Amino acid sequence: MTFIPFDLEYTQSVWEQEVDINLTESGVHPISLEQLLAGNEQLASKLMRTELNYPHVNGIPELRDNIAALYDGAVSDNVLVTVGAAEANNLIMNTMLEPGDRVVTQTPTYKQVWGLALNYGHDVRSFRLQSESGWALDSDELNAAVDASTKLIALVNPNNPTGYILTEPEMDAIVAAADRVGAWILADEVYRGAERVQEAETPSFWGRYDKVLAVGSMSKAYGLPGLRIGWVVAPTNCIDDIWRRHEYTTITATVLSNILAAYALSPDVRPRLLQRSRDYIRNGFPVLQSWMDSQSDLFSYTPSMASAVSFIRYHLDINSTELMERLIREASVFVGAGDSFGMDRHLRIAFGQERSVLEDAFSRIQRVLESLQ
Ligand SMILES: Cc1ncc(COP(=O)(O)O)c(C=O)c1O
Repeated sequence: MTFIPFDLEYTQSVWEQEVDINLTESGVHPISLEQLLAGNEQLASKLMRTELNYPHVNGIPELRDNIAALYDGAVSDNVLVTVGAAEANNLIMNTMLEPGDRVVTQTPTYKQVWGLALNYGHDVRSFRLQSESGWALDSDELNAAVDASTKLIALVNPNNPTGYILTEPEMDAIVAAADRVGAWILADEVYRGAERVQEAETPSFWGRYDKVLAVGSMSKAYGLPGLRIGWVVAPTNCIDDIWRRHEYTTITATVLSNILAAYALSPDVRPRLLQRSRDYIRNGFPVLQSWMDSQSDLFSYTPSMASAVSFIRYHLDINSTELMERLIREASVFVGAGDSFGMDRHLRIAFGQERSVLEDAFSRIQRVLESLQ
């Protein structure tokens, strides 16, 4: 069997530290340790005195309590802390499936689960979010893809790369499809809290059906990707099974990250971090929008509802990976290629940065696009 690399993360590994401007990051500009700890000398000094030991392998109690509080009806035993959502997704795929099981995923999407499913030898089917209807769910395709051999339906909500938030009837349709065959729902909800068009946080799939594995992370809505803290919220017997795999992979996230994430998710600090992210997203999007609207013959798009990225259709006769490579070489600006999300002729452009950075990036991109017209 041929190994399928994780295209998006692979290109990010190669280029993100090399370019002048990186617009591939779907979270906002990260917060510094100094900003996070501002006004809390006590915590700063506690961190200095912390022994660099293994913490609780499943996450320190304070962190698991704060995570559980984000999910109606969850308790800390429903939570396993992982090294990013990336580990959480991987462990779920290792734990919940057997060879030959069918996995149903969205397209376009962040293709971690898709790639893992193929690499582990599963039968993978997709259903579309439809670009022609503002990324609404194609429930006919969903229902056609889900059959008796389907063990897992995986989705990202709010979606990466489109920033689309599923409606309540769409969430119900996904639950009904899973329930019809007894499949698990892997709900990757790492952009929950990073809403642009609404104050309300995107509702979780947790609590809508008894076979939900909800994944979250400090990386996106909280601006803390360097902590490498993610989590799974699941029924306790699943948490135990997933935890047994965690011991084989990373054993645990670091003690410092556990303490910092617990602090970031505490009731006093969390709203401040979410507001900071929403400010970046809400101030950055209009900069992208006014640039795209100034050349409407070149771009079409549905404004993203959440996250710091938009998925944009460009009307030029060039493949998206090729265009991404030209932008790196000729403008030192790095954007996501539509190919990495399963849709050519699109770019995923991040806007969770300062206005001056965005304006510089867009004028560099503009010069390359003009040379192609
Ligand atoms: C949908 C989705 N899930 C998971 C991840 C990985 O997140 P983490 O940094 O928490 O490992 C990403 C990162 O881009 C993502 O977009």
